[in-house]
Amino acid sequence: MGYSSVKIIILLCIIQFIVWSSDLRIKQFRTYDEAIGTEFYALDFIGMANAQGYEAEWHNVTTDDGYILTLFRILPSPPFRNITEKTPVIYMAHGLGATADIFILFGRGRSIAYAFADAGYDVWIGNFRGNSYSRRHQTLSPDDEEFWNFSMDEYALTDLPVFLDYVFTATKKSSIKFLGHSLGTTTGLMLLSAKPEYNAKLDTLILLAPVSYWTTHNPARTFISTLTNSLKMIFPKGAYEFHPQAVIIPGIIKHFCTINSFTKDLCYIPYDLILGPSRQFKVENQPEFFCYYPAGISAKVSYHYVQHLNTGKFQRYKHETKDLNLRIYGSEEPPEYNVTNIVTPTIIFHAPNDPLSTADDVEALISKLPSGTLMVYERVDNEEFNHGDFVLANNADELVYSKLLGILSQSQFRR
Ligand SMILES: *[C@@H]1O[C@H](CO)[C@@H](O)[C@H](O)[C@H]1NC(C)=O
Ligand SMILES: *[C@@H]1O[C@H](CO)[C@@H](O)[C@H](O)[C@H]1NC(C)=O
Ligand SMILES: *[C@@H]1O[C@H](CO)[C@@H](O)[C@H](O)[C@H]1NC(C)=O
Ligand SMILES: *[C@@H]1O[C@H](CO)[C@@H](O)[C@H](O)[C@H]1NC(C)=O
Repeated sequence: MGYSSVKIIILLCIIQFIVWSSDLRIKQFRTYDEAIGTEFYALDFIGMANAQGYEAEWHNVTTDDGYILTLFRILPSPPFRNITEKTPVIYMAHGLGATADIFILFGRGRSIAYAFADAGYDVWIGNFRGNSYSRRHQTLSPDDEEFWNFSMDEYALTDLPVFLDYVFTATKKSSIKFLGHSLGTTTGLMLLSAKPEYNAKLDTLILLAPVSYWTTHNPARTFISTLTNSLKMIFPKGAYEFHPQAVIIPGIIKHFCTINSFTKDLCYIPYDLILGPSRQFKVENQPEFFCYYPAGISAKVSYHYVQHLNTGKFQRYKHETKDLNLRIYGSEEPPEYNVTNIVTPTIIFHAPNDPLSTADDVEALISKLPSGTLMVYERVDNEEFNHGDFVLANNADELVYSKLLGILSQSQFRR
């Protein structure tokens, strides 16, 4: 742990504190006209899709535990607009801190949801509880501690089934494709392990930078666990929100990171450490990106990842006391997700420069999957390609999306 990383951790804790104590959430607008006069704002998903020439729909779904979540749909591009039973359907699950916006943010020719819509897919994208589109609840408010009392288990075992079941009903399809990036892959793997009936409902599982077994230690992991543990020490409250969609982050990028090369380098430290050093995505040019990301994480979701990182196990959330674990799981140790249940044909894309999903981690996952599950394992053909590049890089279309669509057009993946 270098001196500069310690400084960054302190800086991030201070930022986190300011974010909590101020209530400066980014305002969302439907059109650019409505946003005139606001320095930092975000277009909402529908507004952005329309501005970029796509047609999108907003659907609301409610979970058993009362969360009202937003599910977006991008309709297939015009030559394919006549939706029939042959229209392929794909569900996309976003990464940590993201919303559905991450899959459309950069527009035609750059963003993955559009690559699929242009290829004739009917694209559905859910928003996990707690992100900017999924902050409604039948009885709770995001100001309540209880609202944030969830880990990845709830994303995977409560939110995902509600989203997917809604898509099955709306499209009358009996099986669809699932694509996850990072946390999206984690939840997909959890779902298929713990509710194996979804293996028959998903005909293809596409994993971009899969995160499940953390087998290796590296600076990125040390950084994440130190940051998470520092926040846990400073703010011992169990359940609360990390990193809401707040004005302070783009404010810092615009007014601090661009002062000189020293502040610019400082701003790259967390990015490089966590996602892998790369300059495909230039942070200093992107204050507007940070109006969309990060957009709300429960602290317990971060604790859950750090638990996986420390144990190397792919398991349910370990509650704060032994009694609680005993009561909830019937054992002091949380049960592991049984990935041998996963039989959905699987396609994995791995980035060479990815400290969060290393080749060893991916191989640990593959070795545990039943033989026959893994159909394609692609290492992205660019040594610089990092964890975030699957949704951020300006060459992701060429290196990943086109290749993936080519694979999906082969007969064994056509449905
Ligand atoms: C979904 O929720 C949004 C936000 O509350 C609301 O504006 C919209 O009318 C709802 N849509 C439907 C179809 O219920
Ligand atoms: C749309 O598809 C339906 C069913 O395949 C077909 O009957 C209809 O003519 C199509 N409409 C257009 C405008 O292509
Ligand atoms: C969070 O959930 C756990 C387990 O269900 C429960 O014991 C605890 O009281 C909850 N905490 C809050 C703040 O709701
Ligand atoms: C995991 O699933 C496989 C296949 O369904 C089953 O044979 C095995 O007993 C399960 N293992 C555990 C520990 O539950």
